[in-house]
Amino acid sequence: MSLVQIREVIPIHKKYFLIKFFSPKIAKRSSPGQFIHIYINNSTSLRRPFSICNVEKSCIYILFKIVGKGTYLLSSKSALEYIDVLGPLGRGFDYKRDYANLEPIFLGGGVGVAPLIFLSQKIKKGIFIAGSRTKKDVFIKKIFNPRGIKIFITTEDGSKGFKGKATDFLKIYLKNNKNKKFIIFACGPWGMYEELSRISRIYPQIEIQVSLERFMGCGIGACCACSIDTYEGVKKVCKDGPVFNLKVLKIGGRLCRNHSFL
Ligand SMILES: Cc1cc2nc3c(=O)[nH]c(=O)nc-3n(C[C@H](O)[C@H](O)[C@H](O)COP(=O)(O)OP(=O)(O)OC[C@H]3O[C@@H](n4cnc5c(N)ncnc54)[C@H](O)[C@@H]3O)c2cc1C
Ligand code: FES
Repeated sequence: MSLVQIREVIPIHKKYFLIKFFSPKIAKRSSPGQFIHIYINNSTSLRRPFSICNVEKSCIYILFKIVGKGTYLLSSKSALEYIDVLGPLGRGFDYKRDYANLEPIFLGGGVGVAPLIFLSQKIKKGIFIAGSRTKKDVFIKKIFNPRGIKIFITTEDGSKGFKGKATDFLKIYLKNNKNKKFIIFACGPWGMYEELSRISRIYPQIEIQVSLERFMGCGIGACCACSIDTYEGVKKVCKDGPVFNLKVLKIGGRLCRNHSFL
């Protein structure tokens, strides 16, 4: 546990916020896909997990959406306040590859873009597909417009960008680029992983890594709040993940779908 100072609370768009924390220790050790576990105050008791969205020198960023009391209270924090943070926690993306002939695809649903922003800035190459329900939830280009990465927006109602889900766009992209080799990094709702699982049957050669978001207690592997079924036995998302290779997950497993909150 360490007390870290909030440097900035940045309203992005409607219910979306970025928070910048000063923490040389966490910044130095963070890898894309890892998360921090924040104690907000005693009215929310349990800590709340958030992916590390970016690291800049001695500062880290998180990107979040207000969905309940904890995230609301977090959005009301001010610069210079101190906050109790555990991290970086978990196992992030296994991304160190030779990308000369390999195109990374970053597939984010809603606020699931957060860990992929950090990851894509490390890889500095590829395409980024950001899916939302409607244009009111499209905010990515306000915070992220890097060189070398092409961003595609999808909305389910077609109010901005491609009409359909991020995975619908992905299917077309893969079909139109059969000569290329891909690796997919994804973070989004459980339905996205079900669809990716179907896609992986058509393209078994493509490696797919997914970052899971589950209800968490301790965040360090000491309780079983985040247990999940895999073909390698029951795993803890906070310690063995949150990033898993899609092929090890029992997508329809007892401990999978029912406990996913996205
Ligand atoms: C490893 C990990 C990384 C995460 N990274 C991020 C991140 O980068 N940005 C981010 O915004 N969130 C992230 N989350 C989710 C985030 O932890 C929750 O949104 C947060 O804990 C909700 O706290 P709360 O007190 O506001 O909501 P609660 O009061 O706990 O819940 C309020 C209501 O919202 C529902 N709910 C809770 N979380 C979500 C959600 N994420 N989406 C939709 N409905 C929800 C609950 O089922 C409940 O009905 C991550 C979760 C995990 C496990
Ligand atoms: S949250 Fe306690 S084991 Fe994962």
